[in-house]
Amino acid sequence: MEENRKVLYSGVQPTNNLTIGNYIGTIKSWRSLQEDYDCIFAVSNMHAITVRQEPAEFRRKTLSLAALFLACGVEPEKSIVYVQSHVPAHAELCWALNTFTYVGEMERMTQFKDKSAKHADNINMGLMDYPVLMAADILLYQTDVVPVGADQRQHLEIARDIAQRFNNVFTPTFKVPEGLFRKVGAKISDLQEPTKKMSKSAENPNGAVFLTDDRDTVIRKFKRAVTDSDAEIRYEPESKAGVSNLISIYSVFAEKSIEETEREFCGKGYGDFKLAVGELVADKLAPIQAERERLLKDKEYIESALKTGAERAAKIANRTLAKVYKKIGFYQL
Ligand code: TRP
Repeated sequence: MEENRKVLYSGVQPTNNLTIGNYIGTIKSWRSLQEDYDCIFAVSNMHAITVRQEPAEFRRKTLSLAALFLACGVEPEKSIVYVQSHVPAHAELCWALNTFTYVGEMERMTQFKDKSAKHADNINMGLMDYPVLMAADILLYQTDVVPVGADQRQHLEIARDIAQRFNNVFTPTFKVPEGLFRKVGAKISDLQEPTKKMSKSAENPNGAVFLTDDRDTVIRKFKRAVTDSDAEIRYEPESKAGVSNLISIYSVFAEKSIEETEREFCGKGYGDFKLAVGELVADKLAPIQAERERLLKDKEYIESALKTGAERAAKIANRTLAKVYKKIGFYQL
C-alpha cells in the first residue's frame, strides 16, 4: 500500500443474487477507485449470518462473490481482497466497540427496525450489533473514505460517532471516516414499481435485474419495464419515475451523462429505448459473467488471492487492535 494515498473500504455480503442496482452502487466503480485509493474490499460474510444462511450454499456464495470482485476488475496485487471471517480482528474490535455503543441508538437504526419486522422470528443480537461490526470493519483499517449509498449512510454515521467517542475517551486512535457519495445512479428503482428501490426481494421478479440474468432475461425485463403514457424520453424523476430510472441505468452503463442520454433518444419511442437499455445492460454484463465463470473453475487462484488478502488485511487490522487493547487497559504479556 502506498503511504500517501487515502484508504478506501467497502464490503458486500455474500447473500442473495446481486441486482444491477447493488452492482452500480458498489462493485462497478471499484476498478477505477483503485487508481486513486488504497482499496480494501471485503466479502462481508460475518454480517450475512445475522440472517439465517444455508451453510453449503453460503460457502459457495462466498467464493462466488470473491470471483465476481475479481471479474469486475479488482486487482488483488493492487487492492486487498479478503473474506471478513478470515481476519479475527473484526470480531475482536467489534466486542470492544460494543462497550462504546448504546443499546438505544442501535434500536433506533432504520435497518434494524426493517429487518426486525421482516425476520420477526429471529431478532438476534447480531442483527442489532450489525452496525458495530461494520464500524469495526471500517475503523480497523484507519479508513479515510467509504463509498455509501443511501441505505448505508446511517451506518457510516454511527461508525463516525463511535470513532469520535473512543478518541475522546482516550486519545486519537481511529481515523474518522468520510462518506464518498455518488452522483449518477445513486438509486436504481424497480422496473415494475419505479417509485421503489430495485431490490432482490421484490414482489414482482421482473422488477429486478440480476447480475446472473442471461441476455434474453435482461432484455425481456427491460422490455416489460413500466413507463408512462406521455411518450417522451425525458429525465424527470418526480413525474416520470419509470422513464427516468431507465435513463439513469442507460447513463451509468454507457458512462454518459443524463443529458447525453436524453439527446441520444430524443424523438425515439419507448419500445426502441427499452430495447436499447436492455441490450446495453446485457452487453456490459456478458464479459463479467464469462470472467466470473472462468475464475470459478480456478478455485486455487481465487483462494490464493484471498489468502494473501487476509494476511495483508490482518497486518493492518492487528496494528489498530493492539492500540485499542493498550488504551483500554487490557493486560499485556
Ligand atoms: N453492510 C454493507 C451492506 O450490506 C456491507 C458492509 C459490511 C460494508 N461492512 C462494510 C460496507 C464496511 C462498507 C463498509 O451493503
